[in-house]
Amino acid sequence: MTAVIAKKKTAKKGTSSKKKAVTKKAAKRRDGGPETPKSQLYASLVVQLLSLLKGEHDFIANAANFSALLFNALPNVNWAGFYFLQGEELVLGPFQGNPACVRIPMGQGVCGVAAQQCETIIVPNVHEFPGHIACDVASNSEIVVPLFDGERLLGVLDLDSPITGRFDDQDAEGLNELATVFVAHEEGLGV
Ligand code: SME
Repeated sequence: MTAVIAKKKTAKKGTSSKKKAVTKKAAKRRDGGPETPKSQLYASLVVQLLSLLKGEHDFIANAANFSALLFNALPNVNWAGFYFLQGEELVLGPFQGNPACVRIPMGQGVCGVAAQQCETIIVPNVHEFPGHIACDVASNSEIVVPLFDGERLLGVLDLDSPITGRFDDQDAEGLNELATVFVAHEEGLGV
C-alpha cells in the first residue's frame, strides 16, 4: 500500500527559517516550481474562499465555485471536485476537469477508502494504489479529504495531479482548513 494517511496537524511551531527554506526548495523541485510557498498560497485561498462564500448559501453554487478556485489556483492539478455521500455510495458533485465516474461505493477507490476511514489520504502514485479508479489517464497522484458536518460524513473533496508525488502534508493541512471553512459556512442548511 503506497497511500499515506496524512496526520490532521503536521505543522510544527518554532520551525527554523533555514528549515523552511529547504522545504521550499524541495517543493519547487517536486512540483515544477510554484512561486508562492504552499503555506502562503493556502492562507490566500482561505481569504478568497470566504469572499466567494460571503452572502451566498446555495450549497451547489458554493461547491462549484470552491472547486473552480482550487482548480485554477493550485499548480499542477488536473481535476478538483466533490463526491457527496448518498446512502452507501459517493455521488459526483461539482468539479473542474475531465468528466469523471459518477458513483463510487464506500471502501472503493481512493475516495471510497478515505470516506470509509474518515481520513485524508495522499496517494503519491495512483498506479500503485490497489483499487484506484482511473477517471483521467493524465492523473498520477491524488489527495482526498473527507468532509464532515460535526460527526456526520458529507462526502469528500478530491484533487488529482499529473505530477507523481504532487501532494504533501502541507496540502493536506491547507485543504482540510479550506474544507472546514466551506462546511462551516453551509452548516444549518440540512445538506
Ligand atoms: N481516482 C478516484 C476516482 C475519482 S477521480 O479521480 C475524479 C478514486 O480512485 O477514488
